[in-house]
Amino acid sequence: MEEQHSFLKACRRQPTEYTPIWLMRQAGRYMKEYRTLRRRYSFLEMCKTPELAAKVTLLPVEQLHVDAAIIFSDILIPLEPMGIELEFAAQEGPVFRHPIREMKQIDALRVFGPEEELPFLMEAIGIVRRELDSTMPLIGFSGAPFTLASYIIEGGHSKNYVLTKGFMYQNRAAWDALMGKLSEVVIRYLNAQVGAGVQALQLFDSWVGCLNPHDYEEYVLPYSKKVIDGVDKSVPLIHFATSSATLLGKMKQAGGEVIGVDWRVDLGDAWAQLGYDVAIQGNLDPVVLLSSPELIEREAKRILCRVEGRPGHIFNLGHGILPNTPVDHVVRLIETVHQYSAR
Ligand code: CP3
Repeated sequence: MEEQHSFLKACRRQPTEYTPIWLMRQAGRYMKEYRTLRRRYSFLEMCKTPELAAKVTLLPVEQLHVDAAIIFSDILIPLEPMGIELEFAAQEGPVFRHPIREMKQIDALRVFGPEEELPFLMEAIGIVRRELDSTMPLIGFSGAPFTLASYIIEGGHSKNYVLTKGFMYQNRAAWDALMGKLSEVVIRYLNAQVGAGVQALQLFDSWVGCLNPHDYEEYVLPYSKKVIDGVDKSVPLIHFATSSATLLGKMKQAGGEVIGVDWRVDLGDAWAQLGYDVAIQGNLDPVVLLSSPELIEREAKRILCRVEGRPGHIFNLGHGILPNTPVDHVVRLIETVHQYSAR
């Protein structure tokens, strides 16, 4: 594939005219148009209606000067066709009424064909690719096996991951069976998105930072590596986690052209530790976007300075954009990154 896009070039550590930027959760509740749509449709309805998902995907492309689009969906979407009932409750976020706790439930989980079972996602990707200028790359994504396992074992979001870790430590055979099935689903899910037209992938292992490095290596790394090894190599993959400072070397071992880091690390130190044979994505604290334009500018420049002009940095937040973020602050961030990094 011809790689004229700054984002795709940066994923491959090639020099670019400026540092490309996109934002995790760049399509969401901080946008007026999104909130208006959400009054009419539930979140899952929006994910499952290709025209709506495509429309929401394009909002940040139209309103901000981001350098990549990310398909509007959710990491929990592939769990439903596995046979896990999913609900988004008004205040709680995602809820699984029948969490996975036993081997016989794991045996019953289906490893499915995403093209047949999730046609709405493939259609949304097709619409977005037709609508987008050929210079704007589209990112597909999936949750990583550990982060998905944590949701279905806990039954929703968790603070201490007591049940997930308990399962992992005390029920090794069931853990391996679950992680094996999730890995296979994630491989198929990511490859189907590449087949439908996405030009890059992000693997979200959002909650794996709750583990120590030994447990990451023992219980998670083999599965994340299996996923990344199993994914179409024609597109770059961003391997992202939060609270991952002590896991970075092992995440690199699992794979990915790009490692995504949160704001808790110094980006320059993290890159030095990872080595410059991998690209890096990050890492402005999303809370900074709630402050003043002056502070946003200062913090963005501070991160760019730590990169020292090396090719292979993709600017992003350290985690998803927060719902009450002012849109003009986001615009200011993107302008600052583009102007200040221009070479
Ligand atoms: O980045 C993008 O703009 C693409 C869309 C996207 C969403 N979720 C839309 C969404 C992506 C990439 C995700 C990933 C996702 N989903 C992750 C990994 C990233 C991360 O934050 O660590 C996780 C853990 C989830 C699971 C999830 N989805 C939770 C916990 C919640 C509820 C919390 C919340 O922020 O509302 C969701 C819902 C969700 N996913 C919304 C959006 C826009 C809000 C839904 C609404 O309109 O109410």
